[in-house]
This record gives sequence, C-alpha cells and structure tokens, in this order.
Amino acid sequence: MKIETIAIHAGNKVDKSSKAVIQPISLSTTFERGPEGDYPGGYIYTRADNPNRSSLEQVLYQLEGGSDACAFSSGNAAGGCVFQALEAGSHIIAPADMYHGLRNQINEVFRGIHEVTYVDMTDLAAVESAVRPMTKLMWLETPSNPLLKISDIKSLVKIARKHNIIVACDNTFATPLFQRPIELGCDIVMHSTTKYLGGHSDVLGGALITRDKNDFWKRIRNIQELSGAVPSPLDCYLTVRGIKTFPYRMKAHAANAQKIAEYLNQHSSVEKVYYPGLSSHPGHEIAMDQMHGSSGMLSFLVKGGIGEALKVANNVKIFAQATSLGGVESLLEHRASIEGPGTKTPQNLLRVSVGIENADDLIDDLEQALKF
Ligand SMILES: Cc1ncc(COP(=O)(O)O)c(C=O)c1O
Repeated sequence: MKIETIAIHAGNKVDKSSKAVIQPISLSTTFERGPEGDYPGGYIYTRADNPNRSSLEQVLYQLEGGSDACAFSSGNAAGGCVFQALEAGSHIIAPADMYHGLRNQINEVFRGIHEVTYVDMTDLAAVESAVRPMTKLMWLETPSNPLLKISDIKSLVKIARKHNIIVACDNTFATPLFQRPIELGCDIVMHSTTKYLGGHSDVLGGALITRDKNDFWKRIRNIQELSGAVPSPLDCYLTVRGIKTFPYRMKAHAANAQKIAEYLNQHSSVEKVYYPGLSSHPGHEIAMDQMHGSSGMLSFLVKGGIGEALKVANNVKIFAQATSLGGVESLLEHRASIEGPGTKTPQNLLRVSVGIENADDLIDDLEQALKF
C-alpha cells in the first residue's frame, strides 16, 4: 500500500459490535477477564495497552516502514524513553543544534547517568572522532531545528555500524512522507506527533518506531508500560484522525514553504534564508538524495539585529507569533527567545512553520511585516 492509503486505513478498525466505520474511543481503563484467566478482548489495563493506542501504533510503524511502534504522551517522553533504555554510563553523540527540549533533558535529567558530545552532524570526520568505547547512541535530527541543517543519514549510519552504535532519528520536521530513516539504515525513528502527524495544534504526543523488535526495543516497551508516559485514548484517537490527512497536508505545507522561501530569498530586508528546498542551501544536494520533499519549516535572518527581527514578528497578522510547528495554521517565532539563555541561535533569526493557507496571502503578510 502507498502512504496515503496507509494513513487512512492502518489506524482504523471497524467496530465489531456496532459496525461503526470509525473506531470508537475506548475510555475504559480496565478490560474484562475470561473464565480461563485469559483476556478475550486482547487488553488488560490501559497503561499497558488500549484499543486506540494500538491503532495509533499500527499506523505509525506502517508509515515509517518499521516493525513496531510505541506511542507516548509527548515527543519529549518518546525521546526520553530512548535515553532511559540505554545502560547507565552510556555515551551519546547528538547534534550541536539538537531540539533544545531534548538537549536540556539529556543535560539535566540524565546528568550523572549518561555522557553526551554535541557535534555538527554535517561534519562526518567530527562525528567519527567523537566516538568513544562507551558510545551507544547516535541521535540524528535532520532537517535540524531551527537551522534546517541536513545531515547525511546513510554516511552517519555507516559510521555507527562500524562501532555498533544504535542510530535514532528525530523525523518530526520531515515526516515519513518526505523522509524514511529506517529505509536509510536507522534503528529507531522518533516523532513529536504534536506537530505534522497530529497536524492541528490540538493534541500533544510522541512516538518511537523500530526497525527490529530486538532487545533494545523490548526495553523501550517495558519502560513505556512501567513509566506510564502514555497518551490517553482521546489523544490517540485525535492523532489517528490527524494522520489520515497528513500526506495531503504535507504536500501543501511544502509547496507553500518553497514559494515563501523563494520570496524571502530575494527580499532586500532579509539577510539569509534556511530552507533545504533552495539550491543555495548547503544541504540541498543531500536533501534531494535522501528526502522526497523539503517539508514546511524554514528560518530566516532579518537584516539588522534582534530589534528588527522582533518588529517583523510583531507585525505579522495572519501568522500567529507562537512556538511549535506542523499545524495547518502558519506560525512565526523569534527562536532565540524561546530557547532562552545559552542559545546559539542567531538573535535576528525568525523560525516559520508554514501552514496551508493560500501562499499569496502569507507572502502579502510577510511583505507588510518586513516594511519596518
Ligand atoms: C524536532 C522536535 N523534536 C521533539 C520535540 C518535542 O516534542 P513535544 O513537544 O511533543 O514533547 C519538538 C517540539 O517542539 C521538536 O520540534
């Protein structure tokens, strides 16, 4: 089946008793036990599993071409589960511009438990020289947040294989429509389903998808159940519903983002545009090789400094000045303010989550906002 069909059918079960075409939300936290001590419905207790969660997990692993998925209550809970599953004393190689929420988690929650080296993942020699005997995990995020750097997944996997390192890839920005990390050799794919998969900025969630149901995956499943950072049945239902339209939404996000990137790229008040769909982007060739589209995220530097960037952010009318990404509505944010003290993000950078409104309306909005 092709991805558009998987998105609609793999996460839905026609209800056996009512014949409802759309799967109902099973709010019950507990499930009836049979006379033989068995569970004829296949479920025991909702933290361990639930009909809506298993439907969400079904569609997620099929979208990514994996063999199983675990759904979580947030993207950070999903990422954190990978770090928890590592043996204490592990060393992690992670991108220098890793999503700040997960970077802070490694630095603060796993301080004293694991060690980490942050590397520019576009520099293969630097990655290889960061490998230590205890390196157990290579974390990838491509395109990265907020600089839209592209790392060469196949080459990084080659380095990891040589040293027996697990490779996990945060595929939140690209989505499985535009990038399939498991096909490129990764072991684990991570998502904040809060973003493009949910797609409507109204449900928080995260997911891990595995290539193989190996021992590391068994540890992840065990942590999911015992730590209990699981999504509610309603959250699972909403995410499954969002996923049904995600391939079509993604095509619109990418088409709009390409137009906006080209518009910004020729604007006299813009210093630089970061979008992998532009041929001037340093990662453009790798992106064209490993991705099937450039997705809907871009960043740009406003000429001047923080003052000019904040003026633009305050001037937009259709774009909401807000963090997060991946919803149908366009968002724009002054990224350094969100990342807080210690951020390396340029102070004149604005990050844009391009929505699926009409691109001409979005360009008109930017045009008036850039007149400062
Ligand atoms: C690339 C990326 N990964 C992970 C996360 C964390 O996801 P969540 O907010 O669902 O915990 C985010 C959130 O912004 C993100 O942008």
